[in-house]
Amino acid sequence: MFTTAAKIGTAELRYGDKTLTLPVLEGTEGERAIDIRTLRDETGLTTLDYGFKNTASCQSSITYLDGEHGILRYRGYPVEELAAKSRFVEVAYLLVHGKLPDRGERDRFSALLTRHSMLHEDMTQFFKNYPEHAHPMAILSAMVVSLSTFYPELARERLHEEEELDVTTTRLLSKLRTIAAFSYKKSIGEPFVYPRHDLKYCANFLNMMFSSPVRPYEIKPEVERAMNVLLILHADHEQNCSTSTVRLVGSAKVNLYASVAAGICALWGPLHGGANQEVLEMLEGILKSGGDVKRVMERAKDKKDPFRLYGFGHRVYKTYDPRARVIKQTCKDVLAAVKTQDPLLAIALELEERVLQDDYFLERRLYPNVDFYSGIIYRAIGIPANMFTVMFAIGRLPGWIAQWKESQEDPEFKIQRPRQVYTGPREQHYVPISMRD
Ligand code: SDX
Repeated sequence: MFTTAAKIGTAELRYGDKTLTLPVLEGTEGERAIDIRTLRDETGLTTLDYGFKNTASCQSSITYLDGEHGILRYRGYPVEELAAKSRFVEVAYLLVHGKLPDRGERDRFSALLTRHSMLHEDMTQFFKNYPEHAHPMAILSAMVVSLSTFYPELARERLHEEEELDVTTTRLLSKLRTIAAFSYKKSIGEPFVYPRHDLKYCANFLNMMFSSPVRPYEIKPEVERAMNVLLILHADHEQNCSTSTVRLVGSAKVNLYASVAAGICALWGPLHGGANQEVLEMLEGILKSGGDVKRVMERAKDKKDPFRLYGFGHRVYKTYDPRARVIKQTCKDVLAAVKTQDPLLAIALELEERVLQDDYFLERRLYPNVDFYSGIIYRAIGIPANMFTVMFAIGRLPGWIAQWKESQEDPEFKIQRPRQVYTGPREQHYVPISMRD
């Protein structure tokens, strides 16, 4: 059942001799929006809003963010509670179905994940033709859209029936994890390790990544726990760039797999999910230059320098990202569990401390975001930097599925086609090239 915001009043827009009265809507947590759906028809005006900083693209009941107070809730549950008490598979079910599963629902969902963990053997051949240095995000996106060629029913599937919803969801959740592990094995020239039916979601991923025919891999409970926490914290984040991409592509009635493949490409960007790889490379650069964090801070402030302080700032959070707080603590737990000291953690802690005392960053309310500490955990587990955004994609997948499904069920569903303000030449007429010399 689709939930819409309540109309609580009106706003007046005066333009020329016209006054337009527009409805004001209010969401569950008091967020208010002017409904401008009649604006162009009534006035000929459109609105211009670079980056959609002031624009709500939809009504959604999946995730709530309060950027001023650092609040993040999935279907009403605080993400801190889910990270501490739940597991990624249960949170994936919550996001997609809108409720926590009972024991039977959870066991069935988990059994479907196990059943759908393998790739079609012909798909494994695709990996052979990628160059060894191929970025795994390119492989991930190509493989996900290719899944619909091996499972053509997916291109037609509706997601309304429970049965189909769970099959489609678990097939994608499970196979994305396998594709990610296989792309890592490909990059290090080791044979693929196939999923095992006796391992849970995160343990299976760790085993596919790090075990080999000649080297058993011990799955440490603290590492498996940290993997669950990281995937839960990345699971959804309302209308971010990649989720908006999944919704936009899906608005043309494109199937879920092709829509998610587009979302993977958007997530790859260094301003978005690609930032976690950039953070690690930034911290490594500081280490190599003798640990001078002040230098990168000066570069970040220099308007002539395109460099940004990766892992800081956020379009919505104007305080500490609640996910970064949990990840920072998890970082310390994992380093203790794997018994390694990582000099990058000390550098990250010093950089955070200095930034949070620096007027440039404080005035702009730039705080650590989800990408700042996550890479240090992945690195401690043994995951290479070019796989960090792949980890983000594995975590974000249930959110993309839930948001895509909600957009398809929205009674106001329309193909997304924004307008523009044209600033090009007025009408002109063709002249033959002989007259153009
Ligand atoms: C994610 O949207 C989501 O929810 C995303 C995400 C999710 O879960 O899906 O949370 C995941 O993408 C997290 C963000 C990861 N990106 C980075 O860490 C890259 C570094 N951060 C910035 O590029 C930036 O903060 C953004 C892209 C995250 C947000 O950019 P905005 O909202 O468009 O802000 P802006 O560029 O308008 O910046 C406002 C001011 C500018 O300075 P002035 O023009 O006012 O002088 O702040 C400055 C910016 O130059 N600024 C930074 C900065 N971020 C903003 N200056 C230096 N370093 C930075 N990181």
